Amino acid sequence: MTQRSSGDVQLKNKDVRWAAFDPIAYVDHNYRDLQAEDAEILHMIRDHFGDHFRKQGVGPVSGIDVGAGANLYPALAMMPWCDEITLFERSPANVGYLTRQVDSYDRNWDQFWDVLCESEAYNSLGADPRERFRKVVSVEQGDLFQLAAYKRQWSMGTMFFVAESMTTSHQEFSLGVERFMRALAPGAPFAAAFMEHSKGYHTGEHFFPACDVGESEVRASLEAFADDFKVQRLESAAEVRDGYSGMIVACGWRNSDALIPVS
Ligand SMILES: C[S@@+](CC[C@H](N)C(=O)[O-])C[C@H]1O[C@@H](n2cnc3c(N)ncnc32)[C@H](O)[C@@H]1O
Repeated sequence: MTQRSSGDVQLKNKDVRWAAFDPIAYVDHNYRDLQAEDAEILHMIRDHFGDHFRKQGVGPVSGIDVGAGANLYPALAMMPWCDEITLFERSPANVGYLTRQVDSYDRNWDQFWDVLCESEAYNSLGADPRERFRKVVSVEQGDLFQLAAYKRQWSMGTMFFVAESMTTSHQEFSLGVERFMRALAPGAPFAAAFMEHSKGYHTGEHFFPACDVGESEVRASLEAFADDFKVQRLESAAEVRDGYSGMIVACGWRNSDALIPVS
């Protein structure tokens, strides 16, 4: 199927050519320069994770970024507290990009690290964050729907612009959030970001589908898996990525869902 625009076409995750995702075009469009939206998200997740570990005082822990794509900043945000971080990603093109970044990531990511370094937990890692990144980060190719096999494995987690940006199906959106949340251990702090009312997006030559969600759908998708969480719409309004009305960030803690049957 030619993927020109989402229109009425329904595209499930398995129907999309993820191998055609162009990580360089994606970085050029979204992350070559730090945008106001990402700076706002960085402040939110830096404070969420920082507050958690200041109170808990535990560590080191294992972290996962689901659908890491060509974005390193969720992993950078987990770095002070992790002795291992899994970048979990389906597209072989993005896996290639991430693998190449592990040894010595590109300079554009320094702007994102600098925002995090306004907080001591990050700043105290010293002048060479690349050394720490190289040591703790590993890349794993996989399908997030298969994360059911890894229940409660990770102690902190992120999933940015994935559940709503990989399908037009609301059922797959909810299942994507569920798979992410179930991969986390009870009490694990998490952060997830969502495009609001996205109509899909181009990366390089290719069009990728999205599922139209707002704050209420994001809240509903998380409710069974987190008792304590906040859903916030970003204040920054500029359109970084075409065809959406804003961005939504959820931060909270994984609950203990012993009574909820696995779907
Ligand atoms: C819009 S991009 C977001 C990338 C990155 N997390 C970010 O913040 O920019 C969506 C990502 O989800 C990945 N993806 C799509 N389906 C997936 C699946 N079933 N399992 C894991 N990753 C998937 C895509 O390859 C792509 O990297």
